[in-house]
Amino acid sequence: MTERLVEMISADQIRARTKELGKQISEDYKDKDLVFVSVLKGSFIFAADLIREVDITCRIDFLGVRSYGAGTETSGVVQITNDLSRPIADKDVVIVEDIVDTGLTVAHLMDLFRTRNPRSVKVCSLLHKPARARVHIPVDYLGFTIEDKFVVGYGLDFDEKYRNLPYVGIVERT
Ligand code: IMP
Ligand code: MG
Repeated sequence: MTERLVEMISADQIRARTKELGKQISEDYKDKDLVFVSVLKGSFIFAADLIREVDITCRIDFLGVRSYGAGTETSGVVQITNDLSRPIADKDVVIVEDIVDTGLTVAHLMDLFRTRNPRSVKVCSLLHKPARARVHIPVDYLGFTIEDKFVVGYGLDFDEKYRNLPYVGIVERT
């Protein structure tokens, strides 16, 4: 079986949209105590580019989660593999995700974070696949809505591969 990559969203398109999102967040969080929470591993590249488009004071923390095996289907079970380094009480949290697919990961994180008394929690995701939603997740800051295809690149992986691609592509197996 061979894998072929087809570009879906170019590096230029990602850059332009990320800039817009950073600008919007900078306006919305001017008078707030902003903490980005980058959900690892998938969002590390998006988060790194996004925060450099934010021109207000902010912090960043990382959360390791695991919801996938080697396949392309979610297990529905979200496991925290690495918790935040600091409390988020009274902070304005923006969860940074690579993709909201079934929504189970973000739903679980929102529930978990609510127990820690942040002032607010919002979601910023590079991608959203509404066709596969199993729970409704309002994505407050969204890069791109995509169709129901398994995508890789710009942080997203297939079996840990392709995270380094500068664009988002579809893996076609033949
Ligand atoms: P969920 O189904 O919304 O819980 O998504 C869980 C996680 O699965 C996401 O944060 C991604 O890391 C991963 N994921 C979902 N869809 C894709 C995809 O098309 N490509 C790569 N990873 C994906
Ligand atoms: Mg992820």
